[in-house]
Amino acid sequence: MSESDSTPFDPRGARVLLTGASSGIGAALAERLAAEGATLGLVGRDAGRLAATLAACEAHSTGHRSFVCDLADWDALDALAADVLAWGGVDCLINNAGIPKHKDVFHLDAETVDLVMRVNYSSPVRLTLALLPHMAERGSGRIVMVSSVAATLSSPGEGAYDASKAALSVFSEAMAIDVWDHGIRVNIVYPGVVDTPLFLVPDNDPLSPDIEKIPVAEFVDGMMAGLAEDRLEIYVPAFFHDIAKGKAQNVGGFIAGSVGWIRQQQGRA
Ligand SMILES: NC(=O)c1ccc[n+]([C@@H]2O[C@H](COP(=O)([O-])OP(=O)(O)OC[C@H]3O[C@@H](n4cnc5c(N)ncnc54)[C@H](OP(=O)(O)O)[C@@H]3O)[C@@H](O)[C@H]2O)c1
Repeated sequence: MSESDSTPFDPRGARVLLTGASSGIGAALAERLAAEGATLGLVGRDAGRLAATLAACEAHSTGHRSFVCDLADWDALDALAADVLAWGGVDCLINNAGIPKHKDVFHLDAETVDLVMRVNYSSPVRLTLALLPHMAERGSGRIVMVSSVAATLSSPGEGAYDASKAALSVFSEAMAIDVWDHGIRVNIVYPGVVDTPLFLVPDNDPLSPDIEKIPVAEFVDGMMAGLAEDRLEIYVPAFFHDIAKGKAQNVGGFIAGSVGWIRQQQGRA
């Protein structure tokens, strides 16, 4: 793999299946992709909000479709994959749907850990495996995984979420090698903290008010720039990449620093 082998993503004329299109990053990204000439298959659970995203896309062009689907339900997910293949398959799959879990280990139960892993890891992997053979047959395709900086930074109080995203990232890295000679490209997106309804999902501890969120439009700009350059890892904001590299060089120091930060947050420093 070398820089000269990179295949920049061009939305013009591309058929893109985008999960998590009914809210936040997915809703904004859908409209941006439609504006840049892609045809969207939009996936979400909430039919009303999905219809709003579809209408926003249709303001730019026609041919888009919506698929109401609970991606944690394997029968529904398999039926979605069959519908997408019957639609003609896709040039690009963006696995963006996900759920937060901001709870420390003293407040986690095993069922919650399983659900987070099912939605954030097993589900995108299952959808990818269902659509991959069609891409391989054509000798082209792109799979974009929306992970999180939590995957590499082990965000405190988010062990279940961090682990689900880390699993998604590592699976994607290995997959990038497996599919390279089949004309299929993989991009892993690492959002920092983006201002979306994710932070309003019930049964989660609130985000510290000290943490700054970036606007979703700024995030989408960064993600699209990373895809245009076909970067394997797309960190938005980009400085999180340096923090991740620093952590990898000194995990013990990073964990000690995080403990200090938590104590400060709790007024115990
Ligand atoms: N916002 C951030 O700061 C941030 C940071 C790092 C990573 N991320 C990741 O970015 C992605 C998008 O998050 P967001 O911030 O845009 O959050 P969001 O506004 O809460 O949107 C989440 C999307 O995922 C969909 N979804 C959740 N569970 C689903 C299920 N079982 N079946 C089908 N769809 C499901 C939701 O659909 P319905 O609403 O229709 O159920 C919604 O469209 C997630 O993977 C998240 O982990 C976000």
